[in-house]
Amino acid sequence: MIILGIETSCDETAAAVVEDGVKILSNVVASSQELHTKTGGIIPEMAARQQVVSMIPVLQECLRIAKLKSQDLNSIAVTYGPGLIGSLLVGVETAKTLSLIWEKPLIPVNHLVGHIYANFVGENSKSKVQNPKFPALALVVSGGHTDLVLMKDHGSLTWISGTRDDAAGEAFDKTARLLGLPYPGGPAIAAEAAKFQTQNPKFKYKLFPRPLIDQDTFDWSFSGLKTAVLREIQSSPTTLALRRVELAAETQEAIVDVLVNKTLKAARAYGVDTILLAGGVAANQRLKSKFLSEIKSKGDNLHLHVPDPGLCTDNAAVIASAAYFNFYPIDWKGVDANPNLTITS
Ligand code: KG4
Ligand code: ZN
Repeated sequence: MIILGIETSCDETAAAVVEDGVKILSNVVASSQELHTKTGGIIPEMAARQQVVSMIPVLQECLRIAKLKSQDLNSIAVTYGPGLIGSLLVGVETAKTLSLIWEKPLIPVNHLVGHIYANFVGENSKSKVQNPKFPALALVVSGGHTDLVLMKDHGSLTWISGTRDDAAGEAFDKTARLLGLPYPGGPAIAAEAAKFQTQNPKFKYKLFPRPLIDQDTFDWSFSGLKTAVLREIQSSPTTLALRRVELAAETQEAIVDVLVNKTLKAARAYGVDTILLAGGVAANQRLKSKFLSEIKSKGDNLHLHVPDPGLCTDNAAVIASAAYFNFYPIDWKGVDANPNLTITS
C-alpha cells in the first residue's frame, strides 16, 4: 500500500511517500527555520504563511522523487494535531482537498504517535536485527512534549507520564537562548557540548539540578533548569563567552541524565524490554550514548531503538508509516485540525 503523508504541525512543511509503512520512496522537508533563527523562535503566523507558500511545491517534489502520479497512491495521511493551529490547517485542508479530488481515503494521524513510527520506517527498520518488539516503552521528546508511553501493540498506547512544565526540547531551546546560541537550541547546545566533552573527556558534570530524578514519579519538570542556567550566567556575566561550551555541556548532561534515568526506571517498573526513542530530542547523540552505557553498566536486558536523526525531527514519512500501521480512514468532512490533541486521544 502506497501512502502519501503530509505534516505541517510546527514550522516544517513536509510530504513523503511510503510503501507498506516501511519503505520510504520520498521524504521532502521544507523548513522555515532560517526565518525563525533570525527571530530566536517560532512566530506562528509567519510559520503558517510560509507553509501556505511551500505546500504545493513540496508535494510536487515529493511525487517527482517517488516517480509517482496521484493515481498510484492508495491513500493520504495527515497530521491533525497537536501543534500550531494555523500550521496544522495548511496540511489538513490540503489533505482534505486532495482526498476529495483524487478520491483517496484520508487517515488523520496524531503527530506524537507519528514520532514513534520513526522506529518502524526507513533504513532504520531495515538495518535492525528485527523491528521493535511489543510491549515497548516510548520516550517522546520534542519541542512541546516529554511523554512516556506504553505501547502494547500498534494502536494500543497507554500514556504513563508527561512534563509538569517545560518539555525537554523547550529546555534545550530556552537555555540555548540564555547562552547566546541560535534556535533551535538542541543541535546548537549539542555542538557546543561536544567541543567541551572532547577537551574534557573525564569531566564530572554536576552544576545543574536533575529535577524529580529520585522521586517516586515518572513525571518530568525542566523549567527549574532554565532558572539555574540563568543564575549561573548572572553570577558572572563577563565570563559567558569563555564558559559557553562548559555550560552547554552541563545543560545537556542534566537533561540527558534525567531522561535516561527515569526512562530506565519506568521500563523496569512496567516490565518491558524494548525502549523506543522518538521526537526531535532523540536526535541527540549524547542521549543515545548515555542510554547505551547505562543499559550496559546495569546489565539490563533492554533493546534500545533510536531512529536516524533525520527521522527524529518533524517529517511526513513517519506520518505515512503511522497511518499504514493504524489504518483507519475517515471521510474528509470528519477530519479537523486539533491543536490540543494528546498522545492517547
Ligand atoms: O520533534 P521536533 O522536530 O518538533 C516538535 O514536534 O516539537 O522537535 C524539535 C525539538 C526542538 O526543541 C529542538 O531543539 C530539539 O527537538 N532537537 C534537539 C536536537 N535536534 C533537535 N535536541 C537535542 N539535541 C539535538 N540534536
Ligand atoms: Zn514533532
